[in-house]
Amino acid sequence: KRLILIGPPGSGKGTQSPLIKDEYCLCHLATGDMLRAAVSAKTPLGIKAKEAMDKGELVSDDLVVGIIDEAMKKPSCQKGFILDGFPRTVTQAQKLDEMLAKQGANVDKVLNFAIDDAILEERITGRWIHPSSGRTYHTKFAPPKAPGVDDVTGEPLIQRRDDTAEVLKSRLEAFHRQTEPVIDYYSKKGLVANLHAEKPPKEVTVEVQKALS
Ligand code: AP5
Ligand code: ZN
Repeated sequence: KRLILIGPPGSGKGTQSPLIKDEYCLCHLATGDMLRAAVSAKTPLGIKAKEAMDKGELVSDDLVVGIIDEAMKKPSCQKGFILDGFPRTVTQAQKLDEMLAKQGANVDKVLNFAIDDAILEERITGRWIHPSSGRTYHTKFAPPKAPGVDDVTGEPLIQRRDDTAEVLKSRLEAFHRQTEPVIDYYSKKGLVANLHAEKPPKEVTVEVQKALS
């Protein structure tokens, strides 16, 4: 399957992705994770992306379309993929359609992580991540077994630079202004399944499974 996950910051895209991936054997392409890796490695791409990311604004369409185009060529992504955090503008959605059309492929489903803005600050400010694996924790909702360390590797957890109440405001603004139109774009194609993303993680997983069955 070729799936897209759309939702505001903190809506649970990164939390649900590994579960979907394990079940359907797809590759998980998260533009935010790829950009953060480029920023910490100080690659030319990372240097260009950092300023927008720190401010909670979107990185340019050309940059992200480039990384997705490259990543989708991996052999592991040929059978299907989960796009987490892409497309985020209508231009990106159109470019994706063009890329897929060249392979005779198309998007199968768009999962819309619908949730009220008011819930998101607590989720974002309590999040801790294990950068190399992308595993995500939350001090209250999904605490690690030992505070501050990854369950699997024992390595330290970190907080994202953009996970502050202040930067969240611009990220939400970008979502409403630039990404909500993408939901309309796919609704017109009849591809959108709406999830109740405010429910506990396990209940959201059940909704995801229903949407994909
Ligand atoms: P990105 O990394 O994509 O961030 P985001 O969209 O803001 O989404 P998040 O990762 O914050 O949220 P999530 O839905 O994955 O939440 P999670 O599951 O972790 O993008 C970062 C930046 O990169 C952008 O601002 C932009 O600058 C740039 N960028 C990326 N893609 C781009 C693109 N296509 N175009 C242009 N620029 C781009 O959950 C959050 C927390 O809540 C966790 O702690 C988790 O444990 C907890 N939680 C999850 N689910 C639940 C639940 N059901 N109940 C209770 N707690 C929960
Ligand atoms: Zn995420």
